[in-house]
Amino acid sequence: MVNQIPNEVIEQIRNSNDIVDVVGEYVQLKKQGRNYVGLCPFHGEKTPSFSVTQEKQIFHCFGCHKGGNVVTFLMEMESFTFFEAIKHLADRAGIDLPSNSLKEESSLSKESQQVLSAHEWLTKLYHHLIRFTKDGKEGLDYLQGRGVSDEAIDAFQLGYAPNTKDFTATFLEKKGFHNQLLVKYGLLIRNQDSDLVTDRFRGRVIFPIRNHLGKTVAFAGRAMEGQEPKYLNSPETDLFQKGKILYNFDLARKHIRKLNEVILFEGYMDVISAYQSGIENVVATMGTALTENQAKLLKRYVDTVILCYDGDNAGVEATYKASRLLQQVGCQVKIAYITDKLDPDSYIKEFGGEAFKREVIGASQTFLSFYMRYLRKDFNLSLESDRLQYVEEVLKEIAKLESSVEREFYVKEISNEFSISVDSLLEEIKQFREKSGSEKDKREKDRYTKKVQKSSSKLLPAFHNAERTLLAYMLQNRAIAEKVQDELGASFNIDAHKIIATYLYAYYEEGNPEDVSIFMDRITDESVRQTLIQLALIPTQTDISDKEINDYLNIIRAESSTGVNIKQLKAEQRLAEQQNDPIKAAQIAVEILELQRQVKHLN
Ligand code: GTP
Ligand code: MN
Repeated sequence: MVNQIPNEVIEQIRNSNDIVDVVGEYVQLKKQGRNYVGLCPFHGEKTPSFSVTQEKQIFHCFGCHKGGNVVTFLMEMESFTFFEAIKHLADRAGIDLPSNSLKEESSLSKESQQVLSAHEWLTKLYHHLIRFTKDGKEGLDYLQGRGVSDEAIDAFQLGYAPNTKDFTATFLEKKGFHNQLLVKYGLLIRNQDSDLVTDRFRGRVIFPIRNHLGKTVAFAGRAMEGQEPKYLNSPETDLFQKGKILYNFDLARKHIRKLNEVILFEGYMDVISAYQSGIENVVATMGTALTENQAKLLKRYVDTVILCYDGDNAGVEATYKASRLLQQVGCQVKIAYITDKLDPDSYIKEFGGEAFKREVIGASQTFLSFYMRYLRKDFNLSLESDRLQYVEEVLKEIAKLESSVEREFYVKEISNEFSISVDSLLEEIKQFREKSGSEKDKREKDRYTKKVQKSSSKLLPAFHNAERTLLAYMLQNRAIAEKVQDELGASFNIDAHKIIATYLYAYYEEGNPEDVSIFMDRITDESVRQTLIQLALIPTQTDISDKEINDYLNIIRAESSTGVNIKQLKAEQRLAEQQNDPIKAAQIAVEILELQRQVKHLN
């Protein structure tokens, strides 16, 4: 791997970025024994197989077998080049890269780089206009009229696009961007008749839409005087897909992670108002229903999603749909209910941020309470038959709850309201649970442990286990590696082991530290790397006696010598058969059997 960044600097960058923290920005990790586990971000799964070992600074998925160190994690996750991953980690740790290393290949196409650069320029330009110039005053008045503070305008980089024909077009042209590209990404429009290129966003307040890395990938322009559409958005492109992005995710991420909870809104303004009230774990969809992609993204970070949609009918329907989707991907859902058909932003404006925190977010309901209310609209509860059907539907939902305490809580509520005995309600729930196999879910929780056990205790021949164990020690202990190098060299029987040993000897000879996460970079072959990570995860004792090492070496040698002998004998046997010498062939067969028996015995 070629790079102009000195090794010491790379070393320093790695040391300043704990893999648990970096991965934790993408995956909700829970401590389990010595490891952290979570849902693998590289393949879809509902039960965790993804594990991070802090002590060794590596990650590994027992499901899809991806594994690596903090750098390869980012390369996988963000499609970064090695340099981009290092740069990202350096930024993260506040380390400056040497200036001569700044020119490097990018994982993005030339086109994408240019588009991002155009968006970055425009974000700054529009923001500057609204904050500091007469041209932006209209926009500033509008935002101030809606109670948006200067600080929030800065935090969200809000801006203003003046109401002129070609302000943006001229600006970008001067910067050397090509019109064709700008039209394609919806920053400019080409007039059909005159073929002239003009500004798309005119006389609108600009909300830059940032991706999870904080880069502006689109704009939403808010009309100020009731023009249609209310929000003019950039078109969907390869860099901007509404169904994949959540507004404000980049800034909210660390708060979301810390609180293990996210509040999901429907509108940009809701996010901004909440932010101004000091609530920062907030994101929003952008005018479309929550997608599975977004739900899964949230699930990787949190257990609980608080839905805080508008209080009108459309908002309630959207809440129900989003809840179902979130539950499907395994999230707990809570519903923050806004009365008076307000939306969060107008609620905050009317009653203040403190009231919002206390009365709305703080008072958010469980999904079941919401559901019991939501379901009523389909029934006329003054009719006996409707009442029974309603109760039945609610019981089905209660049956899905894991906690028996919770189940009983709602059962009591139903019992009171409909005057049905608790016992008969519980009996019905029991039947629902048996039918749907809710107990099965509990068993799934143990799956991670089983997956791990399965992958480590595969039934392997003794020589194979001996090689694995020995290599596991060699990865941690230079002295053991040197002993094995002297006595065995690279004569492991498994090819991947041969390769790893060879690289490891060279690695230690260069004076490198005993650190799998660094050594790993030398192994470029994906399958060998997978083997390496599995080796690194084999539990080892702090002490291993010379005798034990010698035993392993003997088993490995025996396999290779008998292996060679058996191969040779088999060739001789074939020759004897060809030469029509059945007696000789039979004698050889006996010898082979004897050798095989010896190997078994050793094993
Ligand atoms: P304000 O009306 O300015 O308070 O904005 P809001 O964010 O509260 O908007 P609203 O609740 O009406 O809509 C919720 C979200 O739907 C917005 O934040 C936008 O993402 C999206 N949206 C609303 N109207 C439009 C529109 O006319 N065009 C597009 N593309 N999206 C819209
Ligand atoms: Mn609104």
